[in-house]
Amino acid sequence: MTRCRCVDCRNRHSYHDRPCDQCMFTVIQIGSHQLASRVVLAPMAGISDRHFRRLCRQFGAALTATEMLSAHVQLNHPQGSGLRGIHRDEASPRVVQIAGADPIQMAACARLNVEQGAEVIDINMGCPVKKVLKQAAGSALLRDEPLVKTILDSVVRAVDVPVTLKIRTGWSPDMRNGTTIARIAEDAGIRALAVHGRTRACMFNGDAEYDTIAAIKQSVHIPVFANGDITSAAKALQVLQHTGADGVMIGRGARGKPWLFRDIDHFLRTGTLPQPLPQTLIHKLVLQHVQELHAFYGTEHGLGFVRKHVAWYLENWPEAAGFRRSFNALTSASAQLDSLHELFGQLLLSESAA
Ligand SMILES: Cc1cc2nc3c(=O)[nH]c(=O)nc-3n(C[C@H](O)[C@H](O)[C@H](O)COP(=O)(O)O)c2cc1C
Repeated sequence: MTRCRCVDCRNRHSYHDRPCDQCMFTVIQIGSHQLASRVVLAPMAGISDRHFRRLCRQFGAALTATEMLSAHVQLNHPQGSGLRGIHRDEASPRVVQIAGADPIQMAACARLNVEQGAEVIDINMGCPVKKVLKQAAGSALLRDEPLVKTILDSVVRAVDVPVTLKIRTGWSPDMRNGTTIARIAEDAGIRALAVHGRTRACMFNGDAEYDTIAAIKQSVHIPVFANGDITSAAKALQVLQHTGADGVMIGRGARGKPWLFRDIDHFLRTGTLPQPLPQTLIHKLVLQHVQELHAFYGTEHGLGFVRKHVAWYLENWPEAAGFRRSFNALTSASAQLDSLHELFGQLLLSESAA
């Protein structure tokens, strides 16, 4: 990682709250990959599919990991991860997230994904979902530090691409062992760490806390991404300043707003927000996204994915209130597209009349 050389952030920080020439050259390095920005997409099962990843990359997300792939499922039922895997035509660096509790399976899964085009392997030790915990994977691993070490050693040894790790701040408020896990990770050769500012026991409750992320950042020399409840450029800067992290990771805030990465990147570089995107461009982007979802998941399955994403896009448009219910009742891909065309036409008309 190249550190900013200006006075305020000479030693530990690679961010700055006022732009300076040196800061423009601050880049996060993961293995041989220099990241194009300091903001990345969080892996989100059921959301960060290849089309959402493409959109986020287009707007400046430097990394966009796949949804979590279970090592157990991928190795034993190769069709099981189907649409979730990486595609060689995706933008580089291509990151695949894997989860599991068996070091040998995890290593095999990492190798398989590298053969399939992954350029970075990310290990999930943050997921609190019961299905994942049943296999003692995801954030359940945070309770078992020796096993964390064995898994990380095993995966790092298995592949010749950088391996990164995503964790929570610990297992529970009584066992906030994120700093210990971070040191284990650094010693194992993990190249970057993303930290969600909640413990496993906290699930998604309460506010993310950033003090532990700051302590984790202080305890290691590898790049750290702060994650949790970042939904605006101002919050991103505030979290970077508070934690000293190298970058931020955005999950739910990007749903229905993939251009948030552009806002954050611009704000971190210049201290100002970019011009808002023209409405017509957003409409075009939503229609393209919807068509891609229909094509990718099929016109039957795709309908549900479209309903979800359209609901998130509409959250940002109070003027479209009421549309969602009728939209959710539609039962064909063409009806969904026609309905969106009609909505966008009305929105533009009322905008030009105003
Ligand atoms: C629907 C959903 C699915 C998620 N799936 C994953 C996953 O597959 N792997 C993972 O490491 N984290 C997963 N997460 C956690 C996010 O990556 C992120 O850590 C969390 O949402 C906090 O960040 P945010 O406040 O910016 O959303 C998921 C979160 C959500 C809401």
